[in-house]
Amino acid sequence: MVAANWKMNTLPGGAGTLVEAYGAEMLCGHPELVVCPPFTHLATLGPSLGNAGCLGAQNCSEHLSGAYTSEISAAMLRDLGCRYVILGHSECRLRNPMESLRMPEKMAQAIANGLTPIYCCGEDLPIRESGAELEFIARQLADDLPNELKLNAQNLVVAYEPVWAIGTGKHASPEMAQQMHVFIRSRLMDVMGIEAERTRILYGGSVQGNNAAGFASQPDIDGVLVGGASLKPADFRSIFEAFARKGS
Ligand code: PGA
Repeated sequence: MVAANWKMNTLPGGAGTLVEAYGAEMLCGHPELVVCPPFTHLATLGPSLGNAGCLGAQNCSEHLSGAYTSEISAAMLRDLGCRYVILGHSECRLRNPMESLRMPEKMAQAIANGLTPIYCCGEDLPIRESGAELEFIARQLADDLPNELKLNAQNLVVAYEPVWAIGTGKHASPEMAQQMHVFIRSRLMDVMGIEAERTRILYGGSVQGNNAAGFASQPDIDGVLVGGASLKPADFRSIFEAFARKGS
């Protein structure tokens, strides 16, 4: 999977043009392309992605419906044609201290409404520097993905995104990411009972055209979640091609 997180960029009128600039070959379904634009672009972007490209949102409410001004429900996203929703992105967690506490309910809402969460986890720099990153991720998974959620390989995508690598140009080495992906997969299997051999675990954080092949070469890196480079079609195409070669 190669997923584009456009964050709060582009105007709705420019979204179709950006997808067109990616090129038709990205809409072939291998690897799976997921585009996560701002909410305001979802209604118009679905048709530009065709059948093979998938639409994703960048967050959803933990509630089904009701008096929650400004919130957007999982059911609304599904109705607009979304198949995926990013949950737990560190930019949301940092801006809103309640975000992490809401993760189990958000995951449950997404799954109950037919969306697959692209669930983000990742440590910050002090934790990485202190060598406590495995413990931190184990805690985050346990807090955010409690067993009663009935997660399985099909309804979960995990994105390992070290906070210190997001938008900084400083990416994790492919070996570092591989080690963490193996750890995440083993926690999903051993602690949560998920048959995680087939769970897609993506790496995210300063992925670019010139470093994507290194990530693609690692056996447990099943794709990438790309922010800044997904706004640059040539760069994004190189990333996509690196993962297309992995699958061939
Ligand atoms: P970046 O963002 O590729 O710009 O580092 C990744 C993300 O936030 O998902």
